[in-house]
Amino acid sequence: MDQRALFIIFGGTGDLAYRKLYPSLFRLYEKGYLKENFAVIGTARRPWSDDHFHEVVLNAIADDGRDVERTNTELARKFASHFYYQSHNVDDAEHYVNLKNLADKLDAKYELNGNRVYYLAMAPRFFGTISSHLKDQNLLTENGFNRLIIEKPFGRDYKTAKELNDSVSGSFAEDQIFRIDHYLGKEPIQSIAALRFGNQIISSLWNKEHIDNIQVTLAESLGVEERAGYYETAGALRDMVQNHIMQIVSLLTMEKPDVYDASHLRDKKVEALNNIQLYSVDEAKKNFVRGQYGEDANQTQASYRDEEGTDEHSQIDTFVAGKLISHNPTLEGVPVYVRTGKRLAKKTTQINVVFKNVDTDIFHNVEDNDAIGLQDNVLTIYIEPEMGYTLKLNTKYGNQGYNINPVHLRYRKTPEEKAKIPDAYERLIHDALRGDKTNFAHWHEVSRAWKLVDVIREAWDSEDANFPNYESGSMGPKDADELLTNDGRNWVFNPLK
Ligand SMILES: NC(=O)c1ccc[n+]([C@@H]2O[C@H](COP(=O)([O-])OP(=O)(O)OC[C@H]3O[C@@H](n4cnc5c(N)ncnc54)[C@H](OP(=O)(O)O)[C@@H]3O)[C@@H](O)[C@H]2O)c1
Repeated sequence: MDQRALFIIFGGTGDLAYRKLYPSLFRLYEKGYLKENFAVIGTARRPWSDDHFHEVVLNAIADDGRDVERTNTELARKFASHFYYQSHNVDDAEHYVNLKNLADKLDAKYELNGNRVYYLAMAPRFFGTISSHLKDQNLLTENGFNRLIIEKPFGRDYKTAKELNDSVSGSFAEDQIFRIDHYLGKEPIQSIAALRFGNQIISSLWNKEHIDNIQVTLAESLGVEERAGYYETAGALRDMVQNHIMQIVSLLTMEKPDVYDASHLRDKKVEALNNIQLYSVDEAKKNFVRGQYGEDANQTQASYRDEEGTDEHSQIDTFVAGKLISHNPTLEGVPVYVRTGKRLAKKTTQINVVFKNVDTDIFHNVEDNDAIGLQDNVLTIYIEPEMGYTLKLNTKYGNQGYNINPVHLRYRKTPEEKAKIPDAYERLIHDALRGDKTNFAHWHEVSRAWKLVDVIREAWDSEDANFPNYESGSMGPKDADELLTNDGRNWVFNPLK
């Protein structure tokens, strides 16, 4: 079904628009989700012409596919002809008068029925100004839908997030606001519910009786690269834990929704986050570990403090590990260990669900030096770069005796299968166009996640850390391992073992 809409992209000359939004819109056009009844207004201060804008859009498509031929097609040129550029400063009320005139003209030309998607691909400090001008200058239509898409970082803490939310909710109702967390657009993250609730063998074991602990790892091998300016104000806790990790934890710990749709899922995710134990400052100190990378063992990679644009005494965390406790009835008391960091040994995003030991000694009489013996069953969900699952099971070892060794049942998506999966932005823009909020973060989720994270920040801000405290190329500081060994456990993912 084609969707009629006018997209107004604020920050139309920026990096996000170039790398993600224009290529995603083109893929929707290639696949027929957008047909003739759409138009895009790109707006920013730079004085671009429509012709220059078309060139930029075509280059963005070529860079995305690394395929220059894609831009030389009739289809790509027709697509680009739907793009219009309006130069102005968003702080200036006059801007919105011109914008409204252009929007109304395009609405009539492309028969868009008043449907509008406002994409704020700009720094959050502009969100309030833009939203209120959109309302005051009558850009919001009566006859069609009006949807606002906003990007992280959604505040620096609960207080600033609430101020930001108040500033947009004066003009847009919650059901019109689409908060992007691009992890929610990823195929394996969306599959968590299918895995948990669509399989008897998984759903009947997904509870405190059978699960010992859950581990979530978002490991990056790169350092801060060119993002030092932003990173110095954020750190891993704000950049990764408050949003992506808390969203993943909510999907892993939520109770079963009655229906898999936006409102039921949201209620269960909010409930799951509300049921994550809110630590005191002392508990946060005990249960969360921070780190900042130093040089690697061969001193070929710079420490964080030596990267361009960082403070030489920076207290910013490039690594976080912690233990969260769910108090949802099904998983009451089950620890969820989370970990994220830069310059770690290997790039991976994965979830390990560690099941309880079978607690049997019937094999005790069998001895063989080669046998490994009974291991915990572990279900691993690979999010990226690999996508798929591994299930570790104990089986008989192939020899004369009766010895136990683990095997791994393995499924991975092939490169061909992965190539067919829509990119997260493509999927999320399509969802917003359809008005489907299943894969967007509700304010109640965002606000609870900030409250959970604020107390950790408060604990850390009360004393200076002894940084750097982990080598580039390691798996983080020693304390992160002790978090689990103190509980008699280990991180399942350990590429250095
Ligand atoms: N880039 C990413 O991959 C990414 C990923 C996740 C989230 N985000 C978030 O998305 C937002 C945009 O990021 P970005 O990387 O695209 O930033 P960016 O490259 O710096 O782009 C900022 C845009 O804002 C425009 N702008 C700035 N001040 C303006 C003003 N007063 N009036 C009108 N336009 C103005 C700039 O254009 P002019 O200079 O021409 O005015 C530019 O188009 C940020 O909130 C960022 O945190 C980005």
